[in-house]
Amino acid sequence: TQVLVVGGGQNAEHDVSLGSAAAVRAALRDGGYEVTGLTVGRDGSWQTVAGEPLGHGDAIRAMRASDVVFPALHGELAEDGTFAGLLETIGVAYVGSGVRAGALAMDKWASKLIADRLGIATAAGALIDGANEYGDPADVPLPVVVKPVASGSSYGAARVDRRADLAPAIAAAKQYDDRVLVEEYITGREIDVAVLRRASGELYIAPPLEIVKDTQQLFDTALKYDATPNFSVPAAVTGAVGERLRVAARAIYEALGCAGVARVDFFVRGDEVVFNEINTMPGMTEHSQVPRMFAVDGVSFAELASMLVDAARA
Ligand code: DAL
Ligand code: MG
Repeated sequence: TQVLVVGGGQNAEHDVSLGSAAAVRAALRDGGYEVTGLTVGRDGSWQTVAGEPLGHGDAIRAMRASDVVFPALHGELAEDGTFAGLLETIGVAYVGSGVRAGALAMDKWASKLIADRLGIATAAGALIDGANEYGDPADVPLPVVVKPVASGSSYGAARVDRRADLAPAIAAAKQYDDRVLVEEYITGREIDVAVLRRASGELYIAPPLEIVKDTQQLFDTALKYDATPNFSVPAAVTGAVGERLRVAARAIYEALGCAGVARVDFFVRGDEVVFNEINTMPGMTEHSQVPRMFAVDGVSFAELASMLVDAARA
């Protein structure tokens, strides 16, 4: 089986995605696949993995010639359904979510409304969309988190403790997206759950992972990538909380119509489970949450990658 892994992308997570793509290529090689790669440049140009320019036609032909494309792409114009749309259009089997799930998951406002509707708690919040506001950002009690609606790896996100800092934080978030969310800061543990649809159609829910940190500290870009985050896996949760996390993660994965593996991120406040966001192409390095969660179940990165390729071909 020949798998083409795509990395890079036209957004702030470009380098994060290059890291995921390199790790996925290595995991697939370990699993015995024939592996090739492509990079989407920051400017949208096609490149070889070595960074040589590639024509549009060559890139499309390479994708069509492979059995499966594995878009290890994070963020806007990539994970948000855009790339899935291209692959649907050219008729190639691919790993991960399709257009609808990618678009809904990348939109933190839409996924929040869906979680609400499923009866899953979310942080109180307001949306600023150009001149329109849905809810009043000034009414959200401090501290708040300000974040671009469609971004990843916490680029453009900040915790705000004083009213005077709100407008600058909103302006900073607008660098990443025209739409900005202002949400109540949830003081609680941060726990992630990975959900994967196998080739058989059954869902595999990996053991939850806790991001161990000060509950007053935002898990921001610096904490994610400039330091080594402290993960505890499996997370120490009671049976009841574990079940609530699994039920909520599965419900959101299904409601959005996800495929492949998604990481659903929650806060746990006391016994209460609060949905934060969902990632349809979560970080995929050896040290990222998802491979770590499967590893505690005895599923190696190579086996995880192979489950995803099998599901894409099913
Ligand atoms: N957006 C980053 C890659 C993640 O969710 O892991
Ligand atoms: Mg995210």
